Amino acid sequence: MKIIKKLIVGNWKMQLQSYKEAEKLAAAILKSAQKLKNVETVLCPPFVYIQALRSRVYEVKMGAQDVFWEDKGAFTGEISPAMLKNSKVKYAIIGHSERRRHLGETDEMINKKVRAALKSGLNVILCIGETLKERKRKQTKSVLRRQLHKDLADVRHYSLLHTPYALTIAYEPVWAIGSGLPETPQNADSVAGFIRQELCKILSPKLGKGIRIIYGGSVNSKNIGGYLVMPSISGALVGGASLGARDFGKILKIANNAA
Ligand code: PGA
Repeated sequence: MKIIKKLIVGNWKMQLQSYKEAEKLAAAILKSAQKLKNVETVLCPPFVYIQALRSRVYEVKMGAQDVFWEDKGAFTGEISPAMLKNSKVKYAIIGHSERRRHLGETDEMINKKVRAALKSGLNVILCIGETLKERKRKQTKSVLRRQLHKDLADVRHYSLLHTPYALTIAYEPVWAIGSGLPETPQNADSVAGFIRQELCKILSPKLGKGIRIIYGGSVNSKNIGGYLVMPSISGALVGGASLGARDFGKILKIANNAA
């Protein structure tokens, strides 16, 4: 029987001020990761470290924290899907709530990024989630529905979607990110079930069923196990806890045993 591996993504954000620090952390994580065959590990360092880390830690997959929608041109400061592909990057996080909030990324921009990334063969990790205000107003479902429909507009016919893992949805309630207040595994699982229903409508029942849904928001080595036993959750997007080799190593081990 084929083992379905859990997906654990470390999002380093704009932490780690030097390549030296990044390399040290990556090397320590690699020590844990290379022994584990039943977990898919993805590291998402800041862009400037990707190329050098790629050659250092070839056993784990490399991801980017963002990507632009054009392949080349006069777009100061941006990084294209082609550049990432050529740097052997496999995944791109798109639509993280920090980019939506601090950089004004709209669902229209996110949709362009998702389409460009998929077209160029990058695996997309699309982040969606409601704010605390929206949660209190009981708007979680309507917010997620809107984000999914807009962010995934016109991707249904992309042939890459028929390959496994081209698209992963990360459910990240904004209020749970970096707050130490995670959503409960039960609630996250029920939201993941709702996301799956919407994916089946937006894409097709067949495609919708095959897409991985992961949870993110204050995940650590103590609580990860609870998410991974949930039927609709296939892994986690980890921020703070991915910056400590010990904690992240434990997360990877737990995920490896949960497969
Ligand atoms: P956190 O971040 O694990 O620090 O809450 C998660 C994320 O932003 O992806």
